[in-house]
Amino acid sequence: MLAVNISFLIFLGFISINYGANILAIMPTASFSHQVVFRPLWKELANKGHNITLVTTDLMENMPNLTQIDLSYGYSHYQKQNFVDIISNDSSSFYEMAMAARKATNETNNQFFQSPEGQNLIHNPDNLFDLLVVEAQLPTMMVFSWWYQIPFVGVSSLDCALQYHESAGNPIHPIANPDTNFPLNDVFEMTFWERLNSFLYINLYRCLIRFLTFRNERRMLQQYFGEAVPNIVDIQNNLSLLLIDTNPIFQPVRPLMPNTITIGNGMHLGESQPLTADLQDFLDDAKEGAIYFSLGSNIKGKNLNDTVKKSLLEAFTSMPYKVLWKIDHKFDKVPKHVRIQKWFSAQHDILRHPNIKVFITQGGLQSMQESVHAGKPMIGIPFFGDQHMNVKRMVQLGYGLKVHKHNITKQSIQEAVEEIMDKPIYTENAQEYGRIFRDVEVPNLDKAVWWLEYVIRHKGARHLRNPMLEMPFWQIYMLDVIGLILLCFVAVVFVGKLIVKTIYRKLIVNKEKKTN
Ligand SMILES: *[C@@H]1O[C@H](CO)[C@@H](O)[C@H](O)[C@H]1NC(C)=O
Ligand SMILES: *[C@@H]1O[C@H](CO)[C@@H](O)[C@H](O)[C@H]1NC(C)=O
Ligand SMILES: *[C@@H]1O[C@H](CO)[C@@H](O)[C@H](O)[C@H]1NC(C)=O
Ligand SMILES: *[C@@H]1O[C@H](CO)[C@@H](O)[C@H](O)[C@H]1NC(C)=O
Repeated sequence: MLAVNISFLIFLGFISINYGANILAIMPTASFSHQVVFRPLWKELANKGHNITLVTTDLMENMPNLTQIDLSYGYSHYQKQNFVDIISNDSSSFYEMAMAARKATNETNNQFFQSPEGQNLIHNPDNLFDLLVVEAQLPTMMVFSWWYQIPFVGVSSLDCALQYHESAGNPIHPIANPDTNFPLNDVFEMTFWERLNSFLYINLYRCLIRFLTFRNERRMLQQYFGEAVPNIVDIQNNLSLLLIDTNPIFQPVRPLMPNTITIGNGMHLGESQPLTADLQDFLDDAKEGAIYFSLGSNIKGKNLNDTVKKSLLEAFTSMPYKVLWKIDHKFDKVPKHVRIQKWFSAQHDILRHPNIKVFITQGGLQSMQESVHAGKPMIGIPFFGDQHMNVKRMVQLGYGLKVHKHNITKQSIQEAVEEIMDKPIYTENAQEYGRIFRDVEVPNLDKAVWWLEYVIRHKGARHLRNPMLEMPFWQIYMLDVIGLILLCFVAVVFVGKLIVKTIYRKLIVNKEKKTN
């Protein structure tokens, strides 16, 4: 396809021919937040004349140059495994969580590869793609990079999975950067046992991924792509670029190679839109201030037990503030100043309303970005995954408080809300981090588009790879060099000792001879 993008030429004002490319984007995680971050990117690429084939669990509005493949059945496979309950339950073991995830993704993948759309993607000889963009969490969909012999870019709506950092050549350090899923009290003050556990966790994870997950995945893929499917780790090591949604305000700083591009300044945040008239009136009227409460799209009303729901309603009823509460549950009696809805479409615009004083959130990254962007402090009630780390980081930086999910009572919610309402420091910190968050070199959307086109133009980005990826581990850890230096040291000490001994003997012997 040779569609010359004229507006691009005029805009840049110099001669450069930009060919529209065919991009295959596969986003298989059944979670709205994993999808919504990248919608502006698909839109912008399609607007620029690229042809996007998007495989997604949440279809977006149709537009020219965009072909979508519906993967929404992924949600039912996760529900069948009670995935959200398992990962939010503190007593679930790592093994139980991994098994539930594995079963759900396995079923989703099988259904996809067997579907007419999946079969067409695999076997239609008319498919010509220039670039694969895949979600950098699970290994399966990278296979299309090998199948079409095209470069691929991993993208993630949070920090990516450890194995992708590894393939990008980013140093993995269990103490400085523990895995996002590793439960920790304090990243900055790990105890000896936590350090030992983090070390074991990361290395166990590496082994499991490589020797179990990758092998199983490969066997599954061979059913659809034939026996020739290479080792997944080899496909993964072909990674050209990583786009990750991280930002030092939300995650601890970590070293990144030039092939890892951060887009953690809220790529999904659009221009502010006016609120609907009734919401606007409701919030304008909140003279004492208002609270916005949402636990995101994954935590449903049924994930909270009745006592918790009752305590929350009592807490909100007792306070003088207006409350907007997102929950899919019907209460018998709700006071006038509390407004309950299944979904508020304009979360970011609600947070931007000056009368909103605090946001009570599960600590999902996108929600937190919206709140910090709007300069609003939060009360975090983390349930699973990166939410624990996100909330810890927030408490450390002082722009919010944490309430434990097993400690949701009328009293704990009241106390937390009053603390934030009474002490301006939380709001001041949220505003300060908001200023830092909004201060960006290049809007993240432009950055992401530029880097994807860069990979298309140069058919990969091998020149950005960390040279360490091609080296054996003993060279990386300099075992030979350290070994030789140690050997020399030992030799010098040994020889020195021998010389001293000899001289000493000679002197003593001579002296003794003289005195005799
Ligand atoms: C765009 O993608 C669709 C779906 O893969 C394909 O049918 C169409 O031919 C592509 N258009 C161009 C110009 O390559
Ligand atoms: C995954 O699916 C394959 C069928 O392709 C099946 O043989 C395998 O047992 C499944 N694995 C799990 C963990 O469900
Ligand atoms: C890695 O990329 C090269 C160059 O595009 C390609 O020839 C090779 O087949 C790829 N290897 C795998 C395992 O995908
Ligand atoms: C539970 O909340 C109360 C405040 O209502 C607080 O004093 C207590 O420390 C909390 N407990 C835990 C384990 O967080």
